[in-house]
Amino acid sequence: MPRPSAETASFIPSPETQSQMRAALGLFATGVTVVTADSVAGPMGITVNSFTSVSMDPPLILWCPAKNSKRHDVFAGASHFALHIMGEAQDDIARGFVQSAEAFDGVEWEANDKGVPLISGCPARFECHIRDRIDAGDHSVIIGHVDRVSVSPSVPRVFMSGAWGAFLHPEDV
Ligand SMILES: Cc1cc2nc3c(=O)[nH]c(=O)nc-3n(C[C@H](O)[C@H](O)[C@H](O)COP(=O)(O)O)c2cc1C
Repeated sequence: MPRPSAETASFIPSPETQSQMRAALGLFATGVTVVTADSVAGPMGITVNSFTSVSMDPPLILWCPAKNSKRHDVFAGASHFALHIMGEAQDDIARGFVQSAEAFDGVEWEANDKGVPLISGCPARFECHIRDRIDAGDHSVIIGHVDRVSVSPSVPRVFMSGAWGAFLHPEDV
């Protein structure tokens, strides 16, 4: 767990300060999600933490695939996707989709009526159609309209500063 430094550091983002920029951004705790889509090459997945809720009415969410990922064009070009908030007991699945888009071996899933793989047992799952694709530097921003939500009683994984951790509930401190 990173400790606050004794001194305040300040810099202007540039190619030379990318690691400091990454470290600063990493101080924002997120969950771990897996996005899935169908493709001509079969079902695909990618582990992402760039997920954010956007709007309740209409129900919109977003996530950002990196343009330097081999999977970018499949996910940016898909008409539908599912975003799964991953649980503490699902690290093997999430780590599988860090390594490979095809890491479905041993994963319990079924396709929805759009062919999108739906992974079972996740704390929450959002089935979406893509509403907007925005070009944004070295990433794309994918905005999805949520068509269906599923929730399961399991504890979400937390990710911060490159570490896979857990949320300590104030009542348990
Ligand atoms: C916790 C975590 C979060 C990630 N978040 C994103 C993300 O938001 N967008 C993205 O494009 N890749 C993200 N990645 C990287 C992808 O999971 C995957 O490793 C990458 O697409 C591999 O590149 P490839 O498709 O060229 O093999 C993340 C990886 C980890 C471990």
